[in-house]
Amino acid sequence: MEVGGVFTIFLGLCLSCLLILIAWKRRNKGGKLPPGPTPLPFVGNLWQVRIDATFQSLMKLQKKYGSVFTVYLGPRPVVVLCGHEAVKEALVDQADDFSGRGEMPTLERNFQGHGLALSNGERWKTLRRFSLTVLRNFGMGKRSIEERIQEEAGYLLEELRKTKGAPIEPTFYLSRTVSNVISSVVFGSRFDYEDKQFLSLLRMINESFIEMSIPYAQLYDMYSGVLQYFPGRHNRLYYLIEDLKEFTASRVKINKASFDPQNPRDFIDSFLIKMHQDKSDPHSEFNLKNLVLTTLNLFFAGTETVSSTLRYGFLLLMKYPEVEAKIYEEINQVIGPHRIPSVDDRVKMPYTDAVIHEIQRLTDIVPLGVPHNVIRDTHFRGYFLPKGTDVYPMIGSVLKDPKYFRYPDSFYPEHFLDEQGRFKKNEAFVVFSSGKRICVGEALARMELFLYFTSILQNFSLRSLVPPADIDITPRISGFGNIPPIYELCFVPR
Ligand code: HEM
Repeated sequence: MEVGGVFTIFLGLCLSCLLILIAWKRRNKGGKLPPGPTPLPFVGNLWQVRIDATFQSLMKLQKKYGSVFTVYLGPRPVVVLCGHEAVKEALVDQADDFSGRGEMPTLERNFQGHGLALSNGERWKTLRRFSLTVLRNFGMGKRSIEERIQEEAGYLLEELRKTKGAPIEPTFYLSRTVSNVISSVVFGSRFDYEDKQFLSLLRMINESFIEMSIPYAQLYDMYSGVLQYFPGRHNRLYYLIEDLKEFTASRVKINKASFDPQNPRDFIDSFLIKMHQDKSDPHSEFNLKNLVLTTLNLFFAGTETVSSTLRYGFLLLMKYPEVEAKIYEEINQVIGPHRIPSVDDRVKMPYTDAVIHEIQRLTDIVPLGVPHNVIRDTHFRGYFLPKGTDVYPMIGSVLKDPKYFRYPDSFYPEHFLDEQGRFKKNEAFVVFSSGKRICVGEALARMELFLYFTSILQNFSLRSLVPPADIDITPRISGFGNIPPIYELCFVPR
């Protein structure tokens, strides 16, 4: 072998040793992170955590390392929490410590720490407090938003009647109607179902959620430092979100042009009032960037989550037609065939309520949870997590925790019913997460799910194009989000 070759190998070995040492040092950076598989330089635990099956890989590691362990996503250590106890101890019992938003490199390029969902510190506190107040002022959790949902459900029923029981692919039927509810709150008006721009926005939101969940996104999360400089599929999400941002900014401009501070029409106007009040404070969080990005957070989260859950729900109901029949029976008993369903009916409909909970549990919209981090040096279960350590509260592992759900992998509405058939709460039902970052749209989402499911099933029966036994309920993609399979169905008028 030539001297040059030997030298190159020697250099390579030295470099590897150095990188291992750096990884090891980082791992113990003044902290005592929970145990986990040994990371390799640069690749971290890529051999143990498959980018095309992140959730499954982490669940496998749980068997070996217990419910709290550390994995390296590329060079970045992440503490993983599995099962109800571990997640509750962190997000609820030490709520403040774990209230930070963890790194999400796939979205960071667009948001740069701004907007409610991806911000931290005082910025997040201000935006969260403000958003919750405004959502409530515009009727979230109250009668006024209920009426808006009922009206919007009425438009959907009209659209479904037009199909005359022919097969349809339900994605955009559902997202148009759901999105119009949050659109009324943030933009002050609904879109016409035929509006081409609206449909294009919904496609972008739908595609973005897919892009966030494919292996490219997991890879980008690990190596954003390098990959951001290279062309390729991993950049698609960035451009989609930029387009959505542009649309939101254009709506802000329209509002500004006709703005009347005495008469706020929507979320955007309410934010503009705050901007006006704070205009002499250069450090105010009420600025254009936070306005555009928080509005986008609400529009995006308020659209895709509920419509995906409805889409998954109809598939599950077709697979288990006896469950659909029992819901219809309860609708007939409590609401009857003509009256529009209202939220007050829910307490009288324990079976329907239980089915909706079970649908949400199995839909498991964000199985890995949305990343958190610790906002200060934190002691947790005998470990020491230095400030800024990223944490994955694995919501999917809580929703399938065998200690809390008798048949974790099955569709079993009785998980939420007691022996007398009354609705039974389950503390491990954390689809909206828990603690300080708990979903701000929970009340709205719960109302929407109840009113949409009952309105549709009151008027239509579902018909599958394949026998129930052949319906495959495996998610089409499972990554950051669980994406429901694509399917067609018939809404047959009753
Ligand atoms: C079925 C429906 C929904 C589900 C399952 C869901 C679930 C979640 C989850 C798991 C989180 C992460 C919480 C955490 O960081 O631990 C979250 C956050 C959030 N959700 Fe929802 N969500 C739903 C509907 C909505 C709706 C309708 C809105 C709009 C009003 C919304 C707006 C948000 C926002 C803005 C955040 C970020 C909160 C923060 O970082 O402080 N979500 N949601």
